[in-house]
Amino acid sequence: MKISSGQAIDILKKNQVVAIPTETVYGLAARIGSDLALSQIFETKKRPFFDPLIVHVKSIEQAQALCLHWNPIMQCLAESFWPGPLTMVVPKTKMVSDLITSGLATVGLRCPQHAIALDIIEGVGEPLAAPSANLFGQTSPTLADHVISEFNNQIPVVDGGPCLIGIESTVLLVQNHQISILRPGQVTQLMIEVALKKKHLGFDWTKSVDKKLSPGQMKHHYMPSKPLFGIDSEFKGDLIARLNQELSHLPDEVEGVKIHKPTQIRSIKELKLSDSACEAARQLYSELRRLAEGPEDALTFYFQKSHSAPDWVAVHERLSKACTKFIKS
Ligand code: TXA
Ligand code: MG
Repeated sequence: MKISSGQAIDILKKNQVVAIPTETVYGLAARIGSDLALSQIFETKKRPFFDPLIVHVKSIEQAQALCLHWNPIMQCLAESFWPGPLTMVVPKTKMVSDLITSGLATVGLRCPQHAIALDIIEGVGEPLAAPSANLFGQTSPTLADHVISEFNNQIPVVDGGPCLIGIESTVLLVQNHQISILRPGQVTQLMIEVALKKKHLGFDWTKSVDKKLSPGQMKHHYMPSKPLFGIDSEFKGDLIARLNQELSHLPDEVEGVKIHKPTQIRSIKELKLSDSACEAARQLYSELRRLAEGPEDALTFYFQKSHSAPDWVAVHERLSKACTKFIKS
C-alpha cells in the first residue's frame, strides 16, 4: 500500500516499519529507539541478526551525537559527500542499540540525498535505521512497486519515484586515520582521496579488514528470482547445454542465501546494460526484476573487458554477487 510522508511519520512513531525512498535504493525504516520496529526489520527481510543496519541521519550534528570519536576525516567526508551515497562506519555511542549494530562497537551512518527521506527523519525527530527494502540476499528495490511486490503488499511504502543512483551507498570503515571500503558505490576511492587531500588530512587505506568488522560481505547478494549466469565475453559453444550442466552442481543455498534453480533451462534472456556505468547502475536492479518476471528459465550477462574499468567497480561488484555462477570459455 502506498502512503504519504505524513502517514509514514505516524506509523514510525507507533513503532512500526515503513519503506521510504532514498537516492540509492528504497529502505525499510524503523526508529532507532524502537527495538520492536528494529526487530520487525530483521523479521520482514528474513535478515540474519549478524548483519548490521545503516542509520540514516538528517545532518552532521545528528551523526556526531551517535559517534563516540568524531574525527576530522569523518567531518571532511561528511561535508564533501553528505547528503549523498556514502555510509561511514564509525565508533558508536550508547544511543545506538546493539540490535542495529549486531553487537559491534561501530555504527554505519549516512545522510541520504532525498527530500522525502530527510522530511521523514525530520518529522519523526529521530534517526532511522534502514537496510534496503528487499528479502535478504535478493535484488534491492529502486521503485515503490518493487517494495510492494517483494513483500506481497504487506509493507506500507512512500512512493518517491525511481531512485536516481540505483545501487546502494559506498560503505567506508573509518578507524582513526585508517580507512577501508567495505562496499563500493558511487562515491569512489579516488573521490574520497581527493576530498581528504584537499583538506591536507593524513590517511591510510587499510590493507585487509578483519572479517568480524565487516559481517555483511556474503558471496552472493542482490540475486534475482531466476538464476543469472555471468558469461565470459569469449565464451563459444552451446550455452544452453553448458548451463544445464552447471545447474546440476548448484547448491540450494550459500551462506543462508537461497539459490534459485529451475529443473531445466530451455530458454534464456540476456541482461543488457548501458555502456555508461552511472546509467547501468540506474538500470541494474529494475532490469533484473523485469527480466526475472519474463517467461525464460534463466538470465545471462556478458562480462566485457570495459566492465573492469575503475568507474564500473560498484556495478561490477553487484553483478558478480548477483550471478549464480560465472561461465568461462
Ligand atoms: O544505500 C544504502 O546504503 C541503502 C539505503 C536504504 O540507504 N541501505 C543499504 O542497507 O544498502 P543494507 O543493510 O542493505 O546494507 C548495509 C551494509 C551491509 O552490508 C552491512 O553489513 C554494512 O552495510 N554495515 C552496516 N553497519 C555496519 C557496521 N557497523 N560495520 C560493518 N558493516 C556495516
Ligand atoms: Mg541490502
